[in-house]
Amino acid sequence: MAFQIKSYEEYKEVYARSVAEPEAFWDDIAANFYWRKKWNKTLQWNFKQPDVKWFINGKLNITENCIDRHLALLGDQPAIIWEPNSKDEPHKVITYNELHLQVTRFAQVLRNNGIQKGDRICIYMGMIPELAVAMLACARIGAIHSVIFGGFSANSIADRLQDAQAAHIITCDGAYRGAKDIPLKNIIDDALVSCPFVKKVIVYQRTHTPVSMIKGRDEWWHDELQKVDDETAGTTPAQEMDAEDPLFILYTSGSTGKPKGVVHSSAGYMVYATYSFVNVFQYQPGEIHFCTADIGWITGHSYIVYGVLCAGGTSLMYEGIPTFPDAGRLWDIVEKHKVNILYTAPTAIRSLMAYGTPPIAGKDLSSLRVLGTVGEPINEEAWHWYDEHIGKKRCPIVDTWFQTENGGILISNMAGVTPAKPSYATLPLPGIQPALMDEQGNEITGNSVSGNLCIKFPWPSILRTTYGDHERCRLNYFATYHNMYFTGDGCYRDENGFYRITGRVDDVLNVSGHRIGTAEVENAINMQEGVLESAVVGYHHDIKGQGIYAYVILEKEPEDAPLMQACILQTVNRIIGPIARPDKIQFVKGLPKTRSGKIMRRILRKIAEGDMANIGDTSTLLDPAVVEDIKTGKI
Ligand code: WTA
Repeated sequence: MAFQIKSYEEYKEVYARSVAEPEAFWDDIAANFYWRKKWNKTLQWNFKQPDVKWFINGKLNITENCIDRHLALLGDQPAIIWEPNSKDEPHKVITYNELHLQVTRFAQVLRNNGIQKGDRICIYMGMIPELAVAMLACARIGAIHSVIFGGFSANSIADRLQDAQAAHIITCDGAYRGAKDIPLKNIIDDALVSCPFVKKVIVYQRTHTPVSMIKGRDEWWHDELQKVDDETAGTTPAQEMDAEDPLFILYTSGSTGKPKGVVHSSAGYMVYATYSFVNVFQYQPGEIHFCTADIGWITGHSYIVYGVLCAGGTSLMYEGIPTFPDAGRLWDIVEKHKVNILYTAPTAIRSLMAYGTPPIAGKDLSSLRVLGTVGEPINEEAWHWYDEHIGKKRCPIVDTWFQTENGGILISNMAGVTPAKPSYATLPLPGIQPALMDEQGNEITGNSVSGNLCIKFPWPSILRTTYGDHERCRLNYFATYHNMYFTGDGCYRDENGFYRITGRVDDVLNVSGHRIGTAEVENAINMQEGVLESAVVGYHHDIKGQGIYAYVILEKEPEDAPLMQACILQTVNRIIGPIARPDKIQFVKGLPKTRSGKIMRRILRKIAEGDMANIGDTSTLLDPAVVEDIKTGKI
């Protein structure tokens, strides 16, 4: 694509221009997309409210950029290659022509079911191509999708449905995930007990698990497709969207107990997701890009679906997990489909490292050109293993830092173009102006310094609001530092100005690359009968990056402590989902609190890490003796 940066020198020039004249810079990038009507003002912003708008009065539909505009030249090229969970099931190849047909037909299904522009639709499906089709069909008609990861419980789904007032759901009977079948429709049915406003549930049949189908509410995907007239579907125009019309909501955890619905716009998101995809991975036409993330997270939205398809790329998606049926699964897929770009998470690399090199032996990985990581800091050992055993020291590794709220990668090296440095995300992309801040709100300038990572200037895919609660968006991201977007991450800038993300500085955990709020887990634990209070902290975990350590005060001494622990786990499973289950639960008599009642998590973190020598001053505690008790009982 025209905006692909080809050298380090060029990067420096482009970056300088993006800061000096951001509007002209993004005007040029946005000109590479298909617009029904061009924008007449590039940017309007203030971070106070916040109010950010890009490409004002531009009209477009993202699916015309993802699909229609490629048909003439790339119609027969694979848009999506899908590898199922089981090696015995054949893979699928969906060309751009076929994707067009599937998306327009399913868009018609949505219209037939009364869904209109602006309606919120929850998508809770496994990793099958129909998930991408469902998202694109929503975007086609201007409905706002909210994809929910399959690891969330019925209760979490209900919270999200209520928050978004989503009256329509697209799901599957079940999903395959490694050795497990996940009963998605049953989980939805449990969620719907508290969501009477839901009008329609469209169910794709994947696992043939028995499911209850409620007359008038639940419809089979395949039956609905039967009612579509191909001719009409193919010629029904895509909904014209304003640049600032919301494209999707994606829920993510913050430091409070309630997940927030991050809202992304149509045009800005499209431009930035595509721009970052093409530049970070240095995507070349015809290449196969394999991102192992789940589409339920932002990485999947941007780098399996929207960014890749907008760039006319081929996106490989797979249904399984890296260790099923064995730890060679990813390498088999790379070999079978001659994958060029592999994009995965440090936690996956670490879990595969634990199996050593036998699962790689004899696998032809020579098609690989670029490797990527995302989601959490990558430790040097994992970086070198990836480089040596997977990239065979000839593939650049891009360490890509971003967040759900960012829409696309903000800090990363560009494969083979800008320098890599193990465990460093390195340099900001053009248009991204990072700042390190101290606790007093001053910017820390110069190099070899650490601080809280903020971004000074808007980029096109910055979140626009948190659904239904704009004040929350302001408080979370724009109120901590004057005129800055605050990321919640700590960061070090080295002597050359390269950035290294050091992890969250707020009460958010990153477990296997999944963001989980400690307050959310505490709320869930506290719902268990017999629990008085709890405090949750993260601790170093060799594979997951962070593990969840829960300190729990019970109303009375448990008769059967292991049973009580198991009950707490069940409750967390039920309230949030399996991804939030604590790894360790320690029953304690009291928690270290200040005189004003604030829990001193710093102390709990040290104890969880086993770092007893550095607990620090406990004299300000209401009752310093609790610390000794907790230390002795550490598990
Ligand atoms: C962390 C995931 C270090 C970070 C795309 C951020 C990273 C949070 C990296 C966002 C990276 C993501 N190096 N840390 N390359 N990428 N993170 O919203 O703490 O699920 O704030 O988006 O993941 O998680 P989220």
